[in-house]
Amino acid sequence: MNYKNLLTNFEDGILTVTINRPKALNALNRQTLDDLRQLFEKDALELEGLSGIILTGAGDKSFVAGADISEFTGLDAQGGLDMAQNGHDIFFSIERFPKPVIAAVGGYALGGGCELAMSCHIRVVSNKALFGQPEVNLGLIPGYGGTQRLIQYIGKGRALEILMTADMIDAQKALNWGLANHVVPHGEEVKKAKEILKKIGKKAPVAVSKAIAAVNAFFESQKDGFEQEVIEFAQTVNTEDFKEGASAFLEKRKAVFVGK
Ligand code: CAA
Repeated sequence: MNYKNLLTNFEDGILTVTINRPKALNALNRQTLDDLRQLFEKDALELEGLSGIILTGAGDKSFVAGADISEFTGLDAQGGLDMAQNGHDIFFSIERFPKPVIAAVGGYALGGGCELAMSCHIRVVSNKALFGQPEVNLGLIPGYGGTQRLIQYIGKGRALEILMTADMIDAQKALNWGLANHVVPHGEEVKKAKEILKKIGKKAPVAVSKAIAAVNAFFESQKDGFEQEVIEFAQTVNTEDFKEGASAFLEKRKAVFVGK
């Protein structure tokens, strides 16, 4: 397995995948998304003896801090549609992966990072984890399934508040709200994820795959919301506010939105 932005370790049937861009807080640039697609749509499917996957982020601070904002320059509505559709496809491949996938979250899981963690089957998080969908700060909405999966985990009212205020959810609140399965001391999230995968690894593999498929089927009847998110995301990409929001982040200043 050879990737530019992923580190992999395969041991005792467990594939640990580390998103490795710590200087950018593991932000998802195009290359990283290509790597994830290659892994979940081909390499891991073909891996003999695989019982489950742990997805985590390099460094001490972040799981994934979102889509890579430095790649937003020059994005137009068509680019927004393509970007969101690409993310949706990859995150559905993770959600539909026939073996258990656990996100081990040791820090920021923001924007595309929160969306990535939500596309995994289980989230084990450190006491320093912070979830959020801060896209409105950039003049955007989530584009990788966040508007839909956040409702699935925390409910409509909480989801709307998080999406509109950009407030972060700490580990304890994530646990109370059903976004996190377990909170562990910082640094122990991969260890705990391994324990869970070892337990699942002793169960009947076909039954485990069927459980994943059956649970996903409940939510896939609501697929239209995902299609709507792609359209709405592309429309936010087409605004002056998005250009201002992304520039302000990169120039390290406060955005001034005009509502256009
Ligand atoms: N894209 C690109 N670079 C990012 C990034 C991102 N999403 N998040 C952080 N970085 C970079 C910073 O630019 C910085 O780089 P330099 O050292 O070269 O300046 C480095 O990572 C460290 O970040 P900070 O200095 O900002 O670290 P901090 O501890 O002060 O703040 C933070 C951490 C609160 C996570 C802050 O970095 C932040 O707000 N990041 C952006 C989060 C965000 O808005 N995510 C959503 C992106 S849009 C999206 O994901 C859309 C979608 O659904 C598809």
